[in-house]
Amino acid sequence: MPKVSYIEASGVQHIVDVGEQLSLMEGAVLNDVEGIVGLCGGICSCATCHCYIDDEWAAKLPTPSEGELTMLERAYDRRPNSRLGCQIAVTEMLDGLVVRLPAHQSND
Ligand code: FES
Repeated sequence: MPKVSYIEASGVQHIVDVGEQLSLMEGAVLNDVEGIVGLCGGICSCATCHCYIDDEWAAKLPTPSEGELTMLERAYDRRPNSRLGCQIAVTEMLDGLVVRLPAHQSND
């Protein structure tokens, strides 16, 4: 099962096993990782699953859809490496992925 490292804005790190085809958001919520909310349940309509992908991993992810880019405009502290965790499916190729979390989500 792929391991994903979620790093909170405070620096607290959670390394968790995430089932394949679950999203990064689901992997965080199911493992009680603070900092990802997933308010809309993963239908790309809340931006509370905002996260930052380390540069070394960004190119291995599918490019964001227009819908994801539009929703990211609502994200708190958006950066060039911002993504929505609900739009990224975890696969074995992402074993070791590092995901950093913002200090707040847009619902805070
Ligand atoms: S969980 Fe709502 S946009 Fe990702």
